Amino acid sequence: MSITKETELIAMKKVSDVVAYALKEMKNYARPGISTKELDNYGAEILQDFGANSAPYATYKFPGWTCISVDTEFCHGIPSANRILKEGDLINIDVSAELDGFWSDNGASFVLGDDKFGHQNLVNASKEILKKAILNIKGGVKISDIGDLIETEAKRRGYKVIKNLTGHGIGRSLHEEPSEIANFKDRFNRTRFKKNSVVAIETFIATDSNYAVTLNDGWTMVGNNGGYMAQHEHTIVVTDNQPIILTEKNEIWN
Ligand code: CO
Ligand code: CO
Repeated sequence: MSITKETELIAMKKVSDVVAYALKEMKNYARPGISTKELDNYGAEILQDFGANSAPYATYKFPGWTCISVDTEFCHGIPSANRILKEGDLINIDVSAELDGFWSDNGASFVLGDDKFGHQNLVNASKEILKKAILNIKGGVKISDIGDLIETEAKRRGYKVIKNLTGHGIGRSLHEEPSEIANFKDRFNRTRFKKNSVVAIETFIATDSNYAVTLNDGWTMVGNNGGYMAQHEHTIVVTDNQPIILTEKNEIWN
């Protein structure tokens, strides 16, 4: 969406505060021994307390309130009572929701407790690259140039990017135009970021794969070549200068 009046900005800030708070609290709540279903239930309570609806459920009938992906799962992991978190797991939580007709999206990968399996570098790379990407976005910047920046930064650190997962416009629904904000230089995409538009910027930084493929459960995505992936996501408003980071309260950069 494009922000045309103050009330729209206020509404976007409100739903963004909610998803950011839910993400932050879920990250804090995660601990070895609990299931991803328990973690999702906790997130669901927070969203419900604010009167917000799960965006993936409302949009796609996703079987959960939030997406929780563990270890070799890249994204769209289904919360499950059988999936028990353990020390050192690479976890991704993606929280998107609708409140009063406005939609916001954010996500973060993190290592649970001690980095027993050496995932922290990947997580840090994803965080840093998201920050660099967002700081380079303003009205008029080519979407493909940001993709180029993300891929260049990933490669510089020895990582790959996932080509079939992208950021996206958001606001009046979960996925809007521009529909694909890729993590690579998409030379067929000539669109530019527009001032006042609301977009979700997300990284997909991987150790071994360039594509995400869907498992037989119909939701969970893993790498075409295995390995791990880290994602960080903020919903922002594009301006003439640095973007307004609507989901900054998730504190993923802290
Ligand atoms: Co998301
Ligand atoms: Co998104």
